[in-house]
Amino acid sequence: MRVLKPSILKLPLALLVILIVHTSARSQSSHENAAASCAGCHAAQSQEQPHTPMGMGLQLPAADPLFTAHPVLKIQKGPYTYTVETKGSSSIYSVTDGTRTISLPIHWSFGKGAQTWVLDMNGELYESMMSYYPSIDGLQVTTGDEVLDPKTLEEAVGRKLRKTEPADCFGCHSTNGVAEGNLHLQTMEPGVTCEHCHTGSVAHMIAGLQGQGYETAPPNLAKLTSEDMSNFCGRCHRTWATVVRGGTRGPIDVRFQPYRLANSKCFDGADPRISCVACHDPHKSLATSQSYYDTKCLACHALKNSAPPKDAPSDAKACPVATSNCASCHMPEVKLPNGLMTFHDHEIRVVKPGSSYPN
Ligand code: HEC
Ligand code: HEC
Ligand code: HEC
Ligand code: HEC
Ligand code: HEC
Ligand code: HEC
Ligand code: HEC
Repeated sequence: MRVLKPSILKLPLALLVILIVHTSARSQSSHENAAASCAGCHAAQSQEQPHTPMGMGLQLPAADPLFTAHPVLKIQKGPYTYTVETKGSSSIYSVTDGTRTISLPIHWSFGKGAQTWVLDMNGELYESMMSYYPSIDGLQVTTGDEVLDPKTLEEAVGRKLRKTEPADCFGCHSTNGVAEGNLHLQTMEPGVTCEHCHTGSVAHMIAGLQGQGYETAPPNLAKLTSEDMSNFCGRCHRTWATVVRGGTRGPIDVRFQPYRLANSKCFDGADPRISCVACHDPHKSLATSQSYYDTKCLACHALKNSAPPKDAPSDAKACPVATSNCASCHMPEVKLPNGLMTFHDHEIRVVKPGSSYPN
């Protein structure tokens, strides 16, 4: 790891305190500031992370580019008309039955691509009945809420979150918003920040900047086995155990990558070549080129008529069909039943034409 000697080290303590207090302030840009304060010493990890979908897993409406690009979003569903209208920095979610209208300000946008809004109606939190989907560039019923059949205008607003649900949503999509299972919106920072994955890193930064050394450096996550990494990422992407316990079956479980990957014959909990971070740098945007992933497969699999890679597992065979674009055939795209979102199946396998989705 390259550690630069930042000019920040020369700052007087008072300024430093301002910097740190500032980094924990509750605003969209605070995340960038927080990352910027790590950047002096960890540039490679800090540059892109605040702009990735994880870094933007929750956005405040004033900073949400969706609303700038779409000042008015509208859809009619049965007797109800939904509108999301943005004027200046305020975005309002409304539903009307033609006679009465309920209008609520949007405080929190969940998701960077597809978006759902968590709404506050009379002190209770609701998941918006309508969400934005890039695949149709418009509104449609929130995934999972298709079964709801609202009988009143209040019910048409959205699904009332169960008791522990708000803390769960904010716990996975933002940082420092949940303590001992309770939601604390005053300290919530939008998105998954450095501190969420590297617990104790802010304390480490303060100690470092104050010249107290780096003994308090947070644990090096690169040392996790691929099984432990699956569980670490699975805290949010869902672990194998959570999915099995939850009994989720059929194509909707394709979004739970740790579960799907564990079911693949390629998976070996002790082999770092099949760890989430072998294929994904959590500090960078998702790589989408086939050739990038080919190198990951070919760390274990030989090419036809070629020598196997170094320390290849003895049962990892060569493909009789092709020598590139491995993921395009063996990690097929699977649509959720509502047809609005697509995921890549992490149960790496031979896909027989016409075969059903394996659970
Ligand atoms: C003034 C420089 C400095 C700042 C600012 C700083 N770090 Fe560090 N960090 C270091 C040094 C030096 C190490 C290596 C310590 C060691 O090897 O024992 C380190 C280690 C780490 C490690 C462990 C990596 C490993 O290889 O063990 C993580 C994770 C980390 N820092 C995250 C952060 C985060 C997140 C921030 C911002 C909140 C931050 N650091 C701010 C200097 C800094
Ligand atoms: C604190 C919760 C959390 C943890 C821990 C977490 N993620 Fe995520 N991740 C998210 C959320 C939320 C999103 C979705 C954001 C969205 O779609 O708007 C996401 C999205 C992603 C994406 C998709 C990016 C894209 O362009 O679509 C990848 C890849 C990813 N995470 C990989 C990882 C890996 C690898 C780990 C473990 C090292 C990990 N995540 C750990 C919450 C988390
Ligand atoms: C256990 C962690 C976890 C919880 C709890 C959670 N999410 Fe997510 N959410 C994720 C991850 C990881 C992704 C990205 C992968 C995916 O799309 O499944 C995501 C994706 C999303 C997206 C992007 C679109 C989509 O469906 O992929 C939206 C919107 C969203 N979540 C809203 C919510 C809301 C609202 C709640 C609370 C009712 C919530 N999430 C609860 C982890 C979580
Ligand atoms: C979604 C979880 C996640 C987030 C968010 C995250 N990291 Fe990491 N980080 C990891 C994992 C996992 C590793 C170990 C694997 C790797 O190096 O990619 C790691 C490794 C590191 C390392 C050690 C690199 C090395 O070569 O040893 C540093 C330093 C670091 N991260 C800094 C940061 C900073 C700064 C931020 C915020 C801008 C950040 N991380 C955000 C998960 C995360
Ligand atoms: C052998 C390589 C490989 C491993 C290991 C791997 N992934 Fe992926 N992942 C991919 C590919 C390929 C894509 C699709 C990229 C694209 O969009 O072209 C992807 C996409 C994703 C996405 C975006 C949504 C989707 O499904 O299309 C998320 C989130 C994700 N991976 C999370 C994870 C997590 C968490 C782990 C560890 C349990 C993991 N991945 C392990 C290859 C891998
Ligand atoms: C950690 C090493 C490793 C990595 C990385 C890896 N594999 Fe594998 N893969 C294996 C092993 C070992 C087997 C054979 C296991 C068995 O037969 O029980 C296997 C089996 C397979 C099979 C046959 C599965 C079946 O259902 O019969 C396919 C197809 C496959 N791998 C494709 C891929 C592709 C594509 C990638 C990259 C996206 C990849 N593998 C990455 C180790 C790996
Ligand atoms: C055009 C689609 C396609 C692409 C691209 C592709 N494969 Fe395959 N692969 C297949 C099919 C189909 C089979 C099953 C062949 C059979 O059973 O006769 C297969 C079989 C395999 C097997 C099982 C071999 C065995 O003897 O059991 C492995 C491993 C594998 N592929 C790995 C890879 C890797 C690694 C890549 C990239 C270098 C790759 N594949 C690219 C379609 C593809």
